[in-house]
Amino acid sequence: MSIERNIGLEAVRHMQDRQSVRNFQDKPIPQEDLDAILDAVVNCATAGNLQPVSVIVERDPERSKKLGELCTKQPFLGKAAVNLIFLLDWHKLGVYAAERKAPFNCHDSWMHFVTGLEDVMCAAQTAETAAHMLGIGSCFIGTAMHSGAEIAEMYNLPKRVYPMVVLTLGYAKDLPAKRRKLEKDYMVFEGRYPDIDTEDLCRAYDKKYEGITLPFPSRPDPRAAMVEKIRRGLLTTYSPDETEQIIAHALERGYITEVQRRFAYHYHAVDNYNTGGHILEMMKAQDMFPTRILNDGKIEL
Ligand SMILES: Cc1cc2nc3c(=O)[nH]c(=O)nc-3n(C[C@H](O)[C@H](O)[C@H](O)COP(=O)(O)O)c2cc1C
Repeated sequence: MSIERNIGLEAVRHMQDRQSVRNFQDKPIPQEDLDAILDAVVNCATAGNLQPVSVIVERDPERSKKLGELCTKQPFLGKAAVNLIFLLDWHKLGVYAAERKAPFNCHDSWMHFVTGLEDVMCAAQTAETAAHMLGIGSCFIGTAMHSGAEIAEMYNLPKRVYPMVVLTLGYAKDLPAKRRKLEKDYMVFEGRYPDIDTEDLCRAYDKKYEGITLPFPSRPDPRAAMVEKIRRGLLTTYSPDETEQIIAHALERGYITEVQRRFAYHYHAVDNYNTGGHILEMMKAQDMFPTRILNDGKIEL
C-alpha cells in the first residue's frame, strides 16, 4: 500500500513538529483511534520478526496515578487518557518454543536483550508517531524499569517479562515552548563521521542550552546541599582540587549550567553508576537477566 507523496510529505512535516505532552485535557481517546494506534504497533518491525513485545493498556485514573508514582514520582500519568506499558516479553515465545521442542534462551542472552529493547522502542515509537498523526499527545516514560518488581506485581507479569517504557497518551491541554535540539549538522553526517572542531561543537551545544541555568539557592542550607550534590557528581570525573575549582567558579557565577545540571542533578553521575545494578537485580528476579555475560558469554557443549 502506498500513500500519495504530497500527503506523505505533509505527514512527515507533521512529525517534525512533534513534542512531548505532559499536561492533558480530561477527554477520552476514541476506541477507534486507540485501535488504529495499537494495530500499527502490532505490525511494527522487530528483529527476526520475533515480536518479543507486549503492551498493557491502562485506562484507570487511580491505577495510572499509582503507575506514575512507581515511575519515579511522575503524577501526570494519572491525568492521561491512557497509559501504554511496553513490555519486553520473552514469556510467550518461550512457552511456544518449549511446546514445539525448540531450544530457547533469548531471556538469558545479551544479544537478544539488546535487540529486544530495540524492538520495544520501535513499538513504542510507532505508537508515539501514530498518536501524533491523530492529534493525540504523548510522553515516553523511561523510568518504569526502576520499579520493575512493583509493576510486575501490579500487572500480573509472568517471569521473563519486564516493563521497559510507558507511553502516556492524551489530548494536550497546553503546549510548553518546544525544546531546542542540537542542529542537524551535528547529528546527521554525510558518508562518514567528520572531524568536529571542539569549539564549534561547544557552540552548538551552548546554543541548544542557551539561557537554561540552575541558580544556587540563597538560603544557606539548601545552597550547601546543592553544592554537596554537585561535588559528589564531579568527584566521579575530576580530582578533588579540580572539583573545588569548578564549584568555586559556579558559585562565583551564581548558577550551574544545563550540562552540569544534567549530570550533577538529573542523571546524577553517582546514580548513573549505582542504579543499574538495582534494575538488573529486578530483571534477574523476573528470570530475564543475561547471566551468560558473567560467564564470559560462552557455552560449551
Ligand atoms: C526513552 C525515553 C524516556 C523518557 N522518559 C521520560 C520520563 O520519564 N519523564 C518525562 O517527563 N519525559 C521523558 N521522556 C521525554 C523526554 O524528556 C523528551 O523527549 C525530551 O526532553 C525532548 O523533548 P521533546 O520530546 O518535547 O522534543 C523520555 C523520552 C525517551 C525517548
